[in-house]
Amino acid sequence: MPAIDNPTEKTLAELGLTEPELVARQFASVREQFDKELLAKPGDEASYTQMKNAWLGRKSGVLTAITEKWLKPAAPALKPIVGQSLNELKRHIESNLESFRVAAEKASAATAAAREQIDLSLPGVQRPIGSRHLIRQVFQEIEDIFFSIGFSVVEGPEIETPYYNFEALNIPEYHPVRDDMDTFYLELPKGAPGPLLLRTHTSPVQIHTMEKRQPPVRVIVPGKVYRRDNPDATHSFMFHQIEGLAVDNDITFCDFTGTIDYFVKQFFGEGVKTRFRPSYFPFTEPSVEFDASCIFCGGSGTAKTGGTCGKCKGAGWIELFGAGMVDPAVYGFVNYDPKKVSGFAFGIGIDRLAMLKCGIDDIQVFFQNDVRFLKQFP
Ligand code: PHE
Repeated sequence: MPAIDNPTEKTLAELGLTEPELVARQFASVREQFDKELLAKPGDEASYTQMKNAWLGRKSGVLTAITEKWLKPAAPALKPIVGQSLNELKRHIESNLESFRVAAEKASAATAAAREQIDLSLPGVQRPIGSRHLIRQVFQEIEDIFFSIGFSVVEGPEIETPYYNFEALNIPEYHPVRDDMDTFYLELPKGAPGPLLLRTHTSPVQIHTMEKRQPPVRVIVPGKVYRRDNPDATHSFMFHQIEGLAVDNDITFCDFTGTIDYFVKQFFGEGVKTRFRPSYFPFTEPSVEFDASCIFCGGSGTAKTGGTCGKCKGAGWIELFGAGMVDPAVYGFVNYDPKKVSGFAFGIGIDRLAMLKCGIDDIQVFFQNDVRFLKQFP
């Protein structure tokens, strides 16, 4: 009620309302005012509280003002009609406010329910499912090829002693090949026995395997290896290898090259030829380097567009990996009888093979986790 002509600020006498009829009319207009105000309110719980305070509030509510200004000072003759009208007004206000409250509560429950309702026609949340990393896929592919010819998988530790990484593989401490396999040594607590290093190749697992098993041995060893190399397009301080080892009573060089040739044809395609060149590893004798005929130019050395093939630089051959017949000296470290057993070993660089197969020219993309790259190999 606007303060200017607020009738509850004056007594009935001051308002000149001395007749019961006028009093009744005055109450009717107050009631009308209440109805109008309530009708104008949005039907929410805040409006209810506000109206309740304004009209029924004990200190400054309209009904309190009416009690103080109209009822208490009323002339004795008017008191009954004022009291009665006030009671009626109070009942009216209370019952109307209660209905308002119930309606507001219902409305807010309904909005909440509508908000929380599940719309089954909406498309679901799509959570993209990851896929195997290309390196893992190539591991799997190579493992499957070797499974098919009777090899099984073994694994070994990434942290090694120099004995397994070097000495037992016929690489004594002074040997110059150690320079090519510079690696990371672990910082050990004082008094801990011996140095430990991150393996530079999967070959130490040859030793672990032969220590545990007697021939025939036919295993492949997938895993991570580490070298102190600066990263560039073809080097990484961590990369992946699959070691292969076959040892039995009568394994020949022919078995060896036949196995590798079978693997390369399975992996790159029937049309790919293999060759081997002399090489050197302290733990194989003889040692070789296997090449495949260039899978980009078909071995011709000439690119499809004419000109020299950029991948094999015109050679027609691409270097694949190192291998060889197990050096008899190695058998001495695992108590195999070098007179009775023979075998071959190979160490395939997975990253390199994956790069060749998929035409990737930077090894770093394997480790950057860029989904634009990963998505190309679902
Ligand atoms: N371990 C050698 C390397 O990492 C590869 C290899 C394995 C060579 C087995 C011969 C036999 O370079």
